Amino acid sequence: MRIALVGGTGSFGLALAKRVAEAGYDVVIGSRDAGRAAEAAASVGVDGTTNAEACRSADLVVLATKAEAAVTTAAELRDAIGTTPVLSVAAELGFGPNGVLPTTEATSVAARVQDVVDGPVVAGLHSLAARNLGGEAPPDEDVLVCGDDAEAKALVLELAERVTSGRAIDCGPLGSARALEGLTAVIVNVNKRYKAHAGVRLSGIP
Ligand SMILES: NC(=O)c1ccc[n+]([C@@H]2O[C@H](COP(=O)([O-])OP(=O)(O)OC[C@H]3O[C@@H](n4cnc5c(N)ncnc54)[C@H](OP(=O)(O)O)[C@@H]3O)[C@@H](O)[C@H]2O)c1
Repeated sequence: MRIALVGGTGSFGLALAKRVAEAGYDVVIGSRDAGRAAEAAASVGVDGTTNAEACRSADLVVLATKAEAAVTTAAELRDAIGTTPVLSVAAELGFGPNGVLPTTEATSVAARVQDVVDGPVVAGLHSLAARNLGGEAPPDEDVLVCGDDAEAKALVLELAERVTSGRAIDCGPLGSARALEGLTAVIVNVNKRYKAHAGVRLSGIP
């Protein structure tokens, strides 16, 4: 299975590229700039090209641009993505005097991405910090995933299971993306307060 990482030149995309390549997936890093993609891809031993080219050859497109660019980038890539499933990992954050907050947009990034692409959108992996994901070993964290399309969600759950040593957890419909994206603000505040690199573990699941 070939995974395209749109905006995969950033810290999250590179960490995910390394983990999914180790897990045996065929990976292509995309960028707005082919040269930047090639350089980033070489650093983790995968393919690199423009975002559009990367999408055209993929079985799953991961939107790994900076969060604020996710929706406009998805819209620009609509034709290249076609009906391929899309994973939205973006969490928009607002920074205030008392800490980090989810932004006040009326809908999740994932829902807005779904409005502009034809493939089914799944949201997840928000709580996996790039630093933890790209470490020596897969992080000991659960990975939370939601989506409305059962087949697309199954693809992402399978991928999620292979990039951590925790569990991949189905959190229900795409409507849950609002909460998963918001959880990122909670984790960033916890990290600041405790000088930590927190991840998520759910208890009570058989
Ligand atoms: N960092 C984390 O720990 C973490 C954890 C979980 C989820 N996430 C999510 O993962 C995504 C990537 O995070 P990141 O920290 O890797 O982000 P980042 O480094 O800020 O940006 C990633 C890439 O986005 C592209 N980009 C920047 N501005 C753009 C624009 N205006 N239009 C299109 N592309 C643009 C750039 O690629 P090119 O210049 O090469 O095109 C850049 O390398 C975000 O949505 C974030 O919410 C991050």
